[in-house]
Amino acid sequence: MTDTINIPTTEPQRQFYFIKEAKKYVDFLSKEKGRALTYFVNTFGCQMNARDSEKIVGILEQIGYKPGDSEESDLVIYNTCTVRENANNKIYGHLGYLSSYKEHNPDMKIALCGCMMQEQSAVDKIKSAHRFVDIIFGTHNIFMIAELIVRSFEEEKMVVEVWDGTDQIVENLPAVRKYPFKSGVNIMYGCNNFCSYCIVPYVRGRERSRKPEDIINEIKQLVADGVVEVMLLGQNVNSYGKNLEHPITFAQLLEQVEQIEGLERIRFMTSHPKDLSDELIMFMKHSKKVCHHFHLPLQSGSTKLLEDMNRHYTKEDYLLLVEKLRKAVPDIAITTDIIVGYPGETEEDFLETMDVVERVKYDSAFTFIYSKRSGTPAAKRDDQITPEVIKNRFDRLLKRVQQLASEKAKALEGKTMDVLVESVNSQNKELVSGRLSNNSIVHFAGNKELIGQIVSVKLVCCKGFYYIGERI
Ligand code: 5AD
Ligand code: SF4
Repeated sequence: MTDTINIPTTEPQRQFYFIKEAKKYVDFLSKEKGRALTYFVNTFGCQMNARDSEKIVGILEQIGYKPGDSEESDLVIYNTCTVRENANNKIYGHLGYLSSYKEHNPDMKIALCGCMMQEQSAVDKIKSAHRFVDIIFGTHNIFMIAELIVRSFEEEKMVVEVWDGTDQIVENLPAVRKYPFKSGVNIMYGCNNFCSYCIVPYVRGRERSRKPEDIINEIKQLVADGVVEVMLLGQNVNSYGKNLEHPITFAQLLEQVEQIEGLERIRFMTSHPKDLSDELIMFMKHSKKVCHHFHLPLQSGSTKLLEDMNRHYTKEDYLLLVEKLRKAVPDIAITTDIIVGYPGETEEDFLETMDVVERVKYDSAFTFIYSKRSGTPAAKRDDQITPEVIKNRFDRLLKRVQQLASEKAKALEGKTMDVLVESVNSQNKELVSGRLSNNSIVHFAGNKELIGQIVSVKLVCCKGFYYIGERI
């Protein structure tokens, strides 16, 4: 039993205490079973969730859990997404077969966390229809997974700890990276934009920036540990630093990151067009490390819909930003997110989107069918678009986006470019796979020794969305 008198009240000390306590339970059970206890974390959704999962895994490994290779593990965690409804449906589908695994392994623990758990309706449904779930926690308190595991061992009932929001940013807990040579780094949490269709501000809370010195120290440690590429993560990185005690801009933060010796590549995600500054564009023009890739979500090409979506830019503003980016960094790859079938979208609105696609010629685009998220302003509208109309528009958009993207990719054929090698190719062990600065994938002859290195590769043949290359 946990001795409540000695529990630290400040973080992260409190969590280090619970890591030790959880370890006692895990050691005991693994002795009893005569084998190590295993974990399996299944991550849905965006890069933010991927990074959160690395933090969860960092803590689990300190507790003494070992990586399992399937969901038939002793602790299974689903880090959920709720940005579109089909993300929620996927989780309910998975829960069905998790319950059958638990029947075979009654000591198994099932935990759910992430954005979907910030929705009361989802938590209520799990509490009533999926009672075999052991732990539910939200996006604001992933740092306390060890504490929740201890509670689950002690209380023997479903532990539910979901916070509505927080001002707290707990630093210096362990994380285990999926890749030794690259890492996501959170620079801010939450979102203040309330785009009318989007649930993220409700489930991730208000914008909170980490202090630049904490970010820089984390990156320096990562570099000392072999990382050559970082992806700075935030829901809207362009508004980084505005609410700090000593405000700084995102471009100023990048300047500090650029100075870190040994770091080779910097990426960031996501940029909101309304906050994209000339200062950032100029920084990118001169930077030696920022990758030549810009993800600039369009959502819609119709100024009328953009206004309704609360995006704070027009079609023309957006096109001007693209022009400025291309002028400053001529070989920059531009990618985007587009929503089809937003309530009230007319054929004319949709053709405005197609027009932007035609003019920008994106290197790739994520196209989404509008999904009604309850609680958002757009969900209340009575001019929802019929599935047939949406499907027709979506297919037309996707076809054109793919054609243009493969034309863009083809244009680089024959060029020699730097590739950061990421892995041995899963289908052909003679090949390795890596990424160009513009984020495209290249496969070429090589071995695992090259993983984590940046090498020059000639792009011999473009295969639509990837290249076959030859090391120079
Ligand atoms: N329906 C469809 N797509 C959405 N996105 C956000 N909310 C919704 C929604 N309700 C898309 C946006 C965003 C991306 C991460 O997800 O395009 O940029
Ligand atoms: Fe959602 Fe808009 Fe915030 Fe992006 S900027 S997370 S689309 S509310």
